[in-house]
Amino acid sequence: MEAEVKDKIVSIEKPELVAPPDWKPVIMGILCNWCSYAGSDLTGTSRMQYPPNIRIIRVPCSSRVDPWFIIKALQTTADGVLISGCHPGDCHYISGNYYARRRFLVTKELLKMVGFHEHRVQYSWVSAAEGAKFAQVVKKVTEDVVKLGPLHLYKKENFSK
Ligand code: FES
Repeated sequence: MEAEVKDKIVSIEKPELVAPPDWKPVIMGILCNWCSYAGSDLTGTSRMQYPPNIRIIRVPCSSRVDPWFIIKALQTTADGVLISGCHPGDCHYISGNYYARRRFLVTKELLKMVGFHEHRVQYSWVSAAEGAKFAQVVKKVTEDVVKLGPLHLYKKENFSK
């Protein structure tokens, strides 16, 4: 039984498999309403370009991000996840992003332990005035996930048994 579980865990990332030529990664972006979402809005209104692969979900604060959101995203649709909130000290709920940061670090370690590459899930601080930074962050996450290849192709294989 333990060996079976271990086989499944190590097979989550399969770099030896080649992505189809038309493959484009899906990045789920979970953004805090007050800073990062406003930053992403500024990116758009300033007409800055960034990869269109990101699907944005707005949450009241980065502390609202339950690790289960990340796991569900990777299990169903997303090839990568970006969590973004206010800079330390700027959270509208005083210390929400400090809680989020601690929770994120633990979640990331757990995901690594079960076989996900650490670049599949990333975290950043983006303020409402940092439209250019938001574009850079999305570009970097997308590039990292492209290097890793698709994840959804392997989902049925890894989770449906
Ligand atoms: S309100 Fe933005 S991280 Fe808390």
